[in-house]
Amino acid sequence: MIDLHCHILPLDDGAQSFDESVAIARIARQNRITRIVATPHFKKLSSPQSFLRRRDAALERVRQSLLRDGIDIELFPGAEVQLSDEIFYAGDLRPACIAGSRFLLVEFDYDLTSAAVVRRYLEEILRRGMYPIIAHPERCAAFLNDYELVNDLAEEGTLFQLTAEALTMQTPPVSLDLAAQMAYSNIAQFIATDAHRAYGHRAPVAETFLRDTIPEITDAQLYFMTETAPEAIINDRFPPARAYGYLRY
Ligand SMILES: [Fe+2]
Repeated sequence: MIDLHCHILPLDDGAQSFDESVAIARIARQNRITRIVATPHFKKLSSPQSFLRRRDAALERVRQSLLRDGIDIELFPGAEVQLSDEIFYAGDLRPACIAGSRFLLVEFDYDLTSAAVVRRYLEEILRRGMYPIIAHPERCAAFLNDYELVNDLAEEGTLFQLTAEALTMQTPPVSLDLAAQMAYSNIAQFIATDAHRAYGHRAPVAETFLRDTIPEITDAQLYFMTETAPEAIINDRFPPARAYGYLRY
């Protein structure tokens, strides 16, 4: 599995130390994750230059630790960009894209409800020559309350990343319906861990665990969302097109 979204670097609310970064990597490798994109939060009013400097230094340090400890995981640079009006004044966001590609992992505030704002931000990213990947749409009111918006965006070729945990929770929250439908209907291209810790809540779960917990998803769908599609992104290519269905509401 290639994990496109992971807070493995000790720069945000994810790993709290370099030791914890290594612990996350160790668990991820045991769960057959072989490549991880490090996606620390990038929020408004931060300077991209200083953020990227800190990210690259942390990435290098974790890489060295993994080499030293014999943990066979390839790390790539990325970021999770929290969209707001201010973020577009922060400067060039291109270096925050995943692994030097044109694909930018973005998140919307949980309580954002406006489809117009969602569209305005997505258009601005495209205008700047990047392609957005929407992180965990199942955690944003604009999508949870408006399946039609998700259907429309899917038709326009928007890329979506689901969080593994949203699909595997023992007590399903309301957001499960959106996440599950997006996975079953082929509207979402990626499942990533969004891991913040080595254990427990938001840990780097295995693709085998996903298969056991959500038997409704076929092996082919799972392989596409955890290998084929994220590999395309790392290589700066669009994931192959698939036939998809619409969400029912
Ligand atoms: Fe995240």
